[in-house]
Formats: sequence, structure tokens, C-alpha cells
Amino acid sequence: MREDETWARVLVVDDQQANVILLQRMLEQWGYNDVVATTDAASVYALCKETPPDLILLDLQMPQPDGFELMEILRPITQGPPSIPILVLTADAQQATRQRALAGGANDFLSKPLEPIEVRLRIGNLLETRRLQLQLFDRNVHLTEAVQERTEDLQAARLELLERLALAAEYRDDNTQEHAQRVGRTAALLGRALGMSDAEAEVLHRAAPLHDIGKIGIPDQILLKHTHLTPEEYELMKSHARIGAEILSGSTFAILQKAEEIAATHHEAWDGGGYPLGISGTEIPLSGRIVAVADVFDALVHERPYKEPWPLERAVEEIRKLAGRQFDPDVADVFASLDHAALLAPIERDGEAGAGAEALERAEQPLEATLRR
Ligand SMILES: [Fe+2]
Repeated sequence: MREDETWARVLVVDDQQANVILLQRMLEQWGYNDVVATTDAASVYALCKETPPDLILLDLQMPQPDGFELMEILRPITQGPPSIPILVLTADAQQATRQRALAGGANDFLSKPLEPIEVRLRIGNLLETRRLQLQLFDRNVHLTEAVQERTEDLQAARLELLERLALAAEYRDDNTQEHAQRVGRTAALLGRALGMSDAEAEVLHRAAPLHDIGKIGIPDQILLKHTHLTPEEYELMKSHARIGAEILSGSTFAILQKAEEIAATHHEAWDGGGYPLGISGTEIPLSGRIVAVADVFDALVHERPYKEPWPLERAVEEIRKLAGRQFDPDVADVFASLDHAALLAPIERDGEAGAGAEALERAEQPLEATLRR
């Protein structure tokens, strides 16, 4: 943008052709080479909409719409940001007219007959203000973009930290280190199928992977034990729900609040036989009921230090069988309708779904004895 005012596009609106020509000539003489003029007030809105001018020279006394009406019509365009100044030209020198024009949106006033030096100075003043406003506007746009970029960076960092925290939780007992993320993905699919909004499902997607964060507090000799746990060891293992909820408690972030809820309730059972509280039915938050299904299914079909992977169909059947006992029947129903192979797609390439005789034998065991949960 040039420092002098002749960079500007000026729109002249006057129903008198002679006035239009006079103003055009003056403007051209002063170096303005982007001047648009019209005697047709009705066409001004479209003109401004197509290419907004930097200044409007507006006659007040015209056939409809007159200058006052036109200012009203143009307001959506002229009020900005950045605003477009209006310099009103009128032969009516009455104070009431001036006040009405200023109240209606005019920035300045010129009385006819026009005095060229005054016209030039007032146009120059308004365009200088316009130039500074444009500069400020540009700067604000850049600042807003910069802030937006930083906000997006922070959001991405926050989500990455959540993923890495989930990775830390499963680092010791999941060879593939994908269990937590698969549980998140399956939980979000279940959530959507159960009628959650995209936003709610996304929170679930990010929060569910932290369900076992409390395993950080479980000793290796229990977490990685290849044989069945003693009753005392099992009690200690169960404490991961409470520990996880404690680690995540007190956050102001929606994802962490949801993660706390899930950590605390993903081992509760529909019939009240779960832990740590033994609550039942809809007393258990929906997030906990959903993650319970997603977690058990994923644990069943994958290898653990203490078990072989179950065949897919067997795991799906197990979820169905436990509907109404361990799992919310509605969640189990919706789970039955999912594409189960797709839930495993990223890891089936490792051949984990292959089921040997031993796996089948273990698959016959009751769930409580099969999954150390
Ligand atoms: Fe768990």
C-alpha cells in the first residue's frame, strides 16, 4: 500500500451527472486513478459488494434510495471491520440534516457548492484513517492466525501427551503397545453407535486409552506373572482402578475428567459384581460400561503374558454371553453389530488371531480365570 492516498478506490454516488463528472475530474487531477462513479443509487449496494471501495462520496438528496437510506442499506458492508468511510455531500446546510447524516453513518460532511481544497483535504484525512485501519486489520488477522496456530500446537501437544501417558501405562504388559489406542477407537465407535455426538465420542476416543493408567502402581511380579494370581495378588491388581482414578483426579480438562471416570469404573459389572465399588446398571457411567466391553474384547483377542489370543468369533460370543451380567445389554447389542475384524485391522498382520489348540482350551475357561482384570 502506497503512503499517499491515491492508492484508494473511491466511489462517487450522486444523481446529478454534472456533479459526478466534476468530482471525477477533481479526483483524477489529484492522482486518484481508481474512481468509480454512478448516478444510480439503486446499483450502489451491488457495486460495493463486488469490490468494496475505500471511500464513498455520497450525495444525500437523490431519488430513492436517498443518501440516508443508502447508508442504512450499505451498513453491513461499510461497518467493517475494517469500516469504509462515507463522506456526505449536500446542498442542505441545516444542522439537523448534518446531525442526521452523522448519526446515520456518515464520517464527514461537505457542503455544496464544493470547495476543491476542502474536498481534497477531507478525502485525504478519511483515506489516511482508512489506511491505518487496514494496516491494523491486517496485523490483527496475522495475530489471530498466529494465536490459532499456537492453540492448535498446544492442543496437538496435549493429545500427544495423553497418548504417551497411555503408552506408559501399557508399556510393561502389552507387546504391541496398541491395546490402549484400540480400546479408545472401539469405545468411540460404540459411543457413536449408541447416539453420542461426534464431540462426546472424540472425548471418549482420547480418554479411554488411559483406562489402565493405574497399572503404573502395580508391581512387575504381579503385572507380568505368567501363572494365575493368588487372591492377595488379585486384590492388589484390582487396585489399579482406584490408583488410575487418583492419578487422573481433579483435572479441569474434559478428556482427563472422562478418563478419571473411566479408570474408576471400567471394571464395574452390570449386575453389581465388579470392582472397585460394586455399583450396578446405570449407576455405572456409560463411559465405564462402554470401555468395559472394548477393553475385554481387545484383551481377549490379543496375547497377554498369561494367555494366548482368543479367536475373534469366540471373543464376540463371550461379550454376547456376558450381556446383562458383566456388560450393559445395550452396549453389548451395539457391539455385536460392529465390524469386529476391522477393530483388529492394524494388528492382525502379526497373526495374533490365529488360534492354536492351547488357545482354544484356554478359551473355554471362565472369563474371570482367563483375563486378569
Ligand atoms: Fe483395567
